[in-house]
Amino acid sequence: MNYTEELIINAQKMVTKGKGILAADESNPTCTKRFEALGISSSPESRNEYRDLLFSTEGIEQYISGVIMFDETFRQSTTCDDEIPFTKYLQNLDILPGIKVDKGVKQLAGFNNEVVTEGLDSLRDRLQEYYSLGARFAKWRAVIKIDEGMPSNGSIMANAHSLARYAALCQESGLVPIVEPEVLMEGKHSIDRCYTVTAKTLGVVFEQLKTQNVNLKGMVLKPNMVISALACNDQADIDKVAKLTIKCLKENVPEEVPGIAFLSGGQSSDIATEHLNRMNQLSVELPWNLTFSYGRALQKDALNTWKGKNRKEAQKAFLDRANNNSLATWGKI
Ligand code: 13P
Repeated sequence: MNYTEELIINAQKMVTKGKGILAADESNPTCTKRFEALGISSSPESRNEYRDLLFSTEGIEQYISGVIMFDETFRQSTTCDDEIPFTKYLQNLDILPGIKVDKGVKQLAGFNNEVVTEGLDSLRDRLQEYYSLGARFAKWRAVIKIDEGMPSNGSIMANAHSLARYAALCQESGLVPIVEPEVLMEGKHSIDRCYTVTAKTLGVVFEQLKTQNVNLKGMVLKPNMVISALACNDQADIDKVAKLTIKCLKENVPEEVPGIAFLSGGQSSDIATEHLNRMNQLSVELPWNLTFSYGRALQKDALNTWKGKNRKEAQKAFLDRANNNSLATWGKI
């Protein structure tokens, strides 16, 4: 079956102006860590309840084009009387269901403290099953660390190659690949160093995507912003982050890509929105839409408010964040 047209339509839909992607695909261990930090016990039932709270927030379809889920959530249902599978529930709202398909990061053999993302083995079978269950896009996150002597060419190459193999397999099965090469914010490095590493990483990623015959019109790029490291003494301001990020993307992302949906990566919720807003104010003539695919920056307020019981208040907090980020895609904050 040839999915080309469907891939292009869905990729464009994911990055429609005014909408972005909710990353709710925390693995069970990550979700447990976030729950336990707030004294919430983590079980399949409590995780189901929390995801239900997010997905059934009234009005999110105005701001959210797609939701990325972890396998457990992907197979769960709404907690209301009629228990509608989440995939179906989201489709009814015209929100695309998505699935995280990587198996997480592992130590890269032959290198000190660098990582590579695993999950290519039997990926074709998993993708076919996810498509049949309603998924229309997938996510794979590669992690690039900055430190002395890092990143090595070896880690950039290994991660870019895996991203490209994953993306080609997704398109073969009708799923739009979210290609996520994340240069981490951890460390003390300057924004200039982040620029250099992000530029190099994106360059190699697109080289590999082309080599593996990935259709760039049927994918979404999910990069980090070009930003000062969390522990850098000299923190670049909003304007500088916006300008350097746009410059880096212009120089390294082909025009065929329909859209770029940023990760928040440890930025505060407010700052992540402000960065996106400024970029959209500056970038009237870019070939791609710039939007969000935030996890923490969309969910943090909601999770802190919920604490396992305050459902309505948490939904309000979530809706406010989604609305603000939607405005930021228009540069209207
Ligand atoms: P953050 O926005 O919390 O970085 O999460 C996005 C994501 O999907 C990471 O893979």
